[in-house]
Amino acid sequence: MDYFPLSLASGGAFCNREKEQKHLKYNLLESRPTLIIAPRRYGKTSLAMHTLHDSKLHFAAFDFLSAVTLHDIEKIMLKGVGSLIGRIERGPKKAVKLATDLFSGLSIKFSLDTLGLSIEINKKSIDPATNILNILERIEKLSSQYNKKIVLLFDEFQRLYQISENQAIESVIRQIAQSSKQLSFIFSGSNRHILHQMFNDRNRPFYKLCDRITLDRIDENAYHHYISTAAIESSKTIDSKAIHRVLELTELHPYYVNVLCSRLWRLSTITMDEVNHSWHHYTVEERSQVANELDMLSASQRKCLTILARINGTNSPRSSEFQIQAEMPGTTITQAINILEKKDYIYKDAKGYYKSLDPLISYVLAEE
Ligand SMILES: Nc1ncnc2c1ncn2[C@@H]1O[C@H](COP(=O)(O)OP(=O)(O)OP(=O)(O)O)[C@@H](O)[C@H]1O
Ligand SMILES: [Mg+2]
Repeated sequence: MDYFPLSLASGGAFCNREKEQKHLKYNLLESRPTLIIAPRRYGKTSLAMHTLHDSKLHFAAFDFLSAVTLHDIEKIMLKGVGSLIGRIERGPKKAVKLATDLFSGLSIKFSLDTLGLSIEINKKSIDPATNILNILERIEKLSSQYNKKIVLLFDEFQRLYQISENQAIESVIRQIAQSSKQLSFIFSGSNRHILHQMFNDRNRPFYKLCDRITLDRIDENAYHHYISTAAIESSKTIDSKAIHRVLELTELHPYYVNVLCSRLWRLSTITMDEVNHSWHHYTVEERSQVANELDMLSASQRKCLTILARINGTNSPRSSEFQIQAEMPGTTITQAINILEKKDYIYKDAKGYYKSLDPLISYVLAEE
């Protein structure tokens, strides 16, 4: 059992998020399109996949991360449908027959190869938006044929916006998402800024289409309980103070909790010193990565971020105290803070404090 995976958290490795799972499940059963929104590596994909497996609903997952053309989008969607069909019809021959029948009349061919179901699309056939409409309509048909709801998960959905100016595909997806009772839609992605542009602009097809689930960090008590149970199950010794220190250093950020704990799990007794030492060692290894991230910022943005890391956040970045520390006027600070927030370098916590979002970056900056 991998208690602290660096990839998706599933099964027993999925901690908490009870409210969000319930909310998402309800939306799926009601066919209410949902947008899952959160900064990078907060657990959007894990939440979607865990809820899908748990609900036992049929689903097709499309990850647009690697797409660079609209043709790639079609291919990714067909691959997702191929896997769905493979889960509905277990026998490979039956699966090919179902896929071939379902897509008959279109220039799409399914066949068997060593890797499973392979798909061939005639590249020159009709325009991508019509192809995608056809694919969605066929999935709807599949859902009626089996009288089962099917969930479509569009992950890294911002790629569509980055690939094409053309909103035709978004319009086609909206049309089906709004009208279908049989299909449920989940959208997510790691670029919040672009997703906001896609879903908040009244001139774009996705305006007001979705209910939203915003992910925060995982609850401290739930994490504490999870880590102490994992320790008992895997015969590790870790006391409450050391767990508290893990959660303090990682600031409850799901990815960093898993990074740190997976390193600590190499030991049989985990002390406070080991926690501090492991985290410090990790931040030293990652320094050049942090430097690359900081290079993408302007000097004033970097300065504001550094101060926020050192003072552990502020609710008044325009105060004279902050201006003196930053040696910058209030207007420049406001601009820098706005961009840092938009790019997910900082966030505003529940008490209205602007804080550095990434605990690794905070630690490296605060140390210097
Ligand atoms: N509920 C959870 N319980 C335990 N660990 C989790 C949970 N959710 C996410 N994680 C961990 O956090 C990390 C990021 O998860 P995931 O890839 O799902 O996030 P994401 O928001 O989709 O990331 P990205 O923005 O890169 O797409 C992984 O290491 C995963 O194991
Ligand atoms: Mg993801």
